[in-house]
Amino acid sequence: MRRLNTLFVGQTFIELPEVDSTNSFAQALLSKSKPAEGTVISTSCQTAGRGQIGSHWESEPNKNISLSAILYPDFLEAKEQFKLNQCISLAVFDLVKNCLPDRPVSIKWPNDIYVGNRKIAGILIQNSLINTQIRSTVAGIGINIHQTTFCTNPPNPTSLLLETGQEHPLHDLVPQLCEHLEARYLQLRARKILPLQQDYLRQLYRFGQLANYLRSSGETFQGTIQGIDETGRLKVQVGSEIECFDLKEIRFEV
Ligand code: BTN
Repeated sequence: MRRLNTLFVGQTFIELPEVDSTNSFAQALLSKSKPAEGTVISTSCQTAGRGQIGSHWESEPNKNISLSAILYPDFLEAKEQFKLNQCISLAVFDLVKNCLPDRPVSIKWPNDIYVGNRKIAGILIQNSLINTQIRSTVAGIGINIHQTTFCTNPPNPTSLLLETGQEHPLHDLVPQLCEHLEARYLQLRARKILPLQQDYLRQLYRFGQLANYLRSSGETFQGTIQGIDETGRLKVQVGSEIECFDLKEIRFEV
């Protein structure tokens, strides 16, 4: 890996030849020690990658980025957790957009990275709370780089190789990701909340566009994303009403 241009993210770098999940490894580490802030756990072979809402994250060995960063955002209250989400999503967006400057890269709420209508990266943030504060965060990031076939179907996976036809050396991309993570995290730590929120909305998939959605009840409907509420729920205009949705309450349809 090339030299890292960061103060702390990735300065402690644990490279594992194989692990079930870098998030689980990071959580186990946190349960018995206090790793330095910015410690990154990375692997080229993740055998039981974890996704959102208990799903599985697929990644072929030696093809993709699978890593978790340990952070201590004790400057955030538990009710501000979505700000972290925005910060990490933007860092991953920044990296992917850098690699695909001419492609329509976006952030699909809450924290998937899309190219057009295809998912290129997923994020699993696991916070440990102490009273009303966040004690520690494990920010797990999976980015499809060289994988070209996927076993799991939706939501339409893609990779940098599929998008560009070119190889992107992981030993260059991982330090770049650490740099983007640190830059966005420092922005959050300096409480530059408004620019983070504005950047997030600017990159939000389907923001302001009329599109199809599915409620958890099974009902389909048309709506227009208007923004995010203070707790991180998706605000959608449905007819003349604004409705707010949690992750489990809405599915994006084609
Ligand atoms: C999702 O989109 O459902 C989230 C996927 C997150 C995958 C990453 S890969 C590295 C880290 N370790 C895990 O077990 N999951 C995250």
